[in-house]
Amino acid sequence: MLAAGAPVNKRPRVDARGGPISNGPMPRPLVALLDGRDCSVEMPILKDVATVAFCDAQSTSEIHEKVLNEAVGALMWHGISLAKDDLEKFKALKIIVRVGSGVDNIDIKAAADLGISVCNVPGYSVEEVADSTMCMILNLYRRTYWLARMVAEDKKFTGPDAVRMDAIRDAANGSARIRGDTLGIVGLGKIGQAVALRAKAFGFAVIFYDPYIQDGIDRALGITRVFTLQELLFQSDCVTLHCALNEHNHRLINDYTIKQMRPGAFLVNTARGGLVDEEALAAALKDGRIRAAAIDVHQNEPYNIFAGPLKDVKNSIIATPHAAYYSEASFGELREMAATEIRRAIVGHSLRNCVNKEYLKLASYGDGLNGAGAPGLPAPGAPGSYYPSQMPRGPTSTQESHSLIKPESSDIH
Ligand SMILES: NC(=O)c1ccc[n+]([C@@H]2O[C@H](COP(=O)([O-])OP(=O)(O)OC[C@H]3O[C@@H](n4cnc5c(N)ncnc54)[C@H](O)[C@@H]3O)[C@@H](O)[C@H]2O)c1
Repeated sequence: MLAAGAPVNKRPRVDARGGPISNGPMPRPLVALLDGRDCSVEMPILKDVATVAFCDAQSTSEIHEKVLNEAVGALMWHGISLAKDDLEKFKALKIIVRVGSGVDNIDIKAAADLGISVCNVPGYSVEEVADSTMCMILNLYRRTYWLARMVAEDKKFTGPDAVRMDAIRDAANGSARIRGDTLGIVGLGKIGQAVALRAKAFGFAVIFYDPYIQDGIDRALGITRVFTLQELLFQSDCVTLHCALNEHNHRLINDYTIKQMRPGAFLVNTARGGLVDEEALAAALKDGRIRAAAIDVHQNEPYNIFAGPLKDVKNSIIATPHAAYYSEASFGELREMAATEIRRAIVGHSLRNCVNKEYLKLASYGDGLNGAGAPGLPAPGAPGSYYPSQMPRGPTSTQESHSLIKPESSDIH
């Protein structure tokens, strides 16, 4: 019989492992990297507390039964999506860590209903994405990308002064001065704020729209808040997107909202491809309503960016392959931080970055793993919790990660 207030209709997840075992090592919980195979950074962090497997799957139908039945922890990049029915296939899962910040490829509410904590790694690449965004904005204003391409393609900028000046004016047509222009930031979170600070130094008047943050941040940063997207689009010479993708803002930039932008404005998107309707963007670039755009994220990833509606407007677009987050430093830190969060769950320490805490509470799981620790995982105080900078590094000859690619794949060993 259930005690009053105890969760009902929840299927049991991991059996509690109680009591000391007299001889032989305790079986280690299984942690699986779902959509990749390189665990070289994660292994040293997890090897003394977990068995680590990789699946290299693009969908849950490719995940080995053993992982579906036994994995208590999962690490995942952006190469796989976990909808409700995918999550239900996992029988023992307690924690998912997105190796990245966006969790739009996981149904975090359904995960909470199943008692699974979902964590992300926020902030690992704030500087990289903000710098990449500035790089894109500067390229749109100064046309450096297109000018460099002309030089690489052997366009001649030689001859008498008048000829040379004409060639340069032609090639650099559209270059603009930044000082005094208005940069509109949609979403003033970590990256939006970092962009605001940088943009001010270049002479932009910075405005932002973010309905979810408290008053006062505008004063702290010396920028201007506007209270509707329409107002931001109306005032901005360049619009840059930095909001998280959620159920309310799919195709935020669409045919209707593009019409609210200043004619000839620039658009930059380093946030999420789903925020922009690419057909509407292509049409606006074709007729010059948007002068040029720079996008790091795309409606369809990882497919060819120019296979879709943007193929006819290649010359007005700078497109990069969702790489704004990448630097050697950020990439290493990201993987260390993700593995360390899984480690915290296993050794019973509080999680740092649980993104479905509120839903876990609503689903009567309390704080989930973000509270006292995971039921069925080793108790708090278990040995071996440490920080990334203290991690033993380098290859491990005896503790390789296991491949758990589906049996029909020839890769299993
Ligand atoms: N291109 C890359 O490599 C890369 C790397 C990291 C993050 N990102 C993306 O960058 C974006 C920002 O990341 P962050 O770490 O700054 O996130 P964050 O959570 O710190 O900030 C997001 C902000 O968006 C705001 N927001 C949500 N919906 C909004 C809406 N409809 N209109 C306006 N504002 C809204 C939120 O209030 C929040 O302040 C996210 O979409 C993230 O997925 C991209």
